Amino acid sequence: MTVRATVVGVGHYLPERIVENAVFAQGLTGITEDTIQLDTSDEWIRSRSGIERRHFAAPGQTTSDLATRAARAALDDAGLAADDVDAIVLATSTADLTFPSAATMVQAQLGMTRGFAFDVQAVCAGFIYALANANALILSGQAKRVMVIGAETFSRIMDWTDRGTCVLFGDGAGALILEASEGDGTNADRGILSTDLNSDGRFRDILYVDGGSSTGTTGYLRMEGKEVFRHAVEKLAATATTAMEKVGMTPDQIDWVVPHQANIRIITGTARKLGLPMEQVVTTVQDHGNTSAASIPLALSVGKERGQIKRGDVVVTEAIGGGLAWGAVVLRW
Ligand code: UT7
Repeated sequence: MTVRATVVGVGHYLPERIVENAVFAQGLTGITEDTIQLDTSDEWIRSRSGIERRHFAAPGQTTSDLATRAARAALDDAGLAADDVDAIVLATSTADLTFPSAATMVQAQLGMTRGFAFDVQAVCAGFIYALANANALILSGQAKRVMVIGAETFSRIMDWTDRGTCVLFGDGAGALILEASEGDGTNADRGILSTDLNSDGRFRDILYVDGGSSTGTTGYLRMEGKEVFRHAVEKLAATATTAMEKVGMTPDQIDWVVPHQANIRIITGTARKLGLPMEQVVTTVQDHGNTSAASIPLALSVGKERGQIKRGDVVVTEAIGGGLAWGAVVLRW
């Protein structure tokens, strides 16, 4: 018998406020003290990124608030209570405070009085890293049930004068619950079948936030979009292929690709490189924008809600972000 980390619940939460692309040119209020007005257009944002709208957290609403809402939805979906979970692994780059972790704040908000909780920070690849870590906790016997959350409030780290970045990101959260189950060690098992993690710190300067202990401020996101784009398709296709190869799978055995939702052109380019049609790709970028570590659990939850991802389907999920850090997970839902 082989231990597998199997999905038993999924859920998400999106803040109520939806901002359509056109609002950036018309004047966006309620985010900063001044009205944000950008020299941009719905046409530019849509054609360059595929994004049509995004959700923004309300003033005072934090990453742990969004994460707790998603966590409750996942617990409901699994029919579990918070104390049935042994660990919370939360992927975020926008924790409420420098410390303690957003994960421990979620633990408190859920009323969970046992187990342990910690954050994982691998920017947009954070959820893939969190899944791989949760899988390792389960396979090593350190936990039987792990809640894996991706949650972000990127609206709080935007430079609202930089039209090249601030129109691309949104806020949200998604959560999965993984449970130890017994499989027979083949690809017919439900659960996580393989993981592949990569990073290369030489690319620090193409995507970073210019704050932290080096400045004593929170800072703002800085991105050389074209450079990140150049790495994305190639590295995403490579990591997805490696994750499949680790368990002897080929693209024709895949039911769904659930990519990080940064840019529709990256998503279509990667699918094309993998030889998979867009009919097998879950896309939410049009409605959510880039929600960094939250984008994959949001897409998994929405994909299930839409009736796309069904029990027994093979899902390949992949992401890349600041670091650079990238990776992929193959799982049977
Ligand atoms: O999730 C983490 C990983 N991040 C990503 O995957 C993002 C990867 N990069 C991208 O998605 C794309 O590079 C962007 C969507 C960021 C940009 O698309 P692009 O086709 O690479 O455009 P660009 O940056 O080369 O900009 C083209 C032009 C520039 O004008 P000039 O210099 O050609 O005259 C920009 O100034 O578009 C201009 N521009 C804008 N125009 C209207 C940049 N931002 C905007 C804007 N509205 N919001």
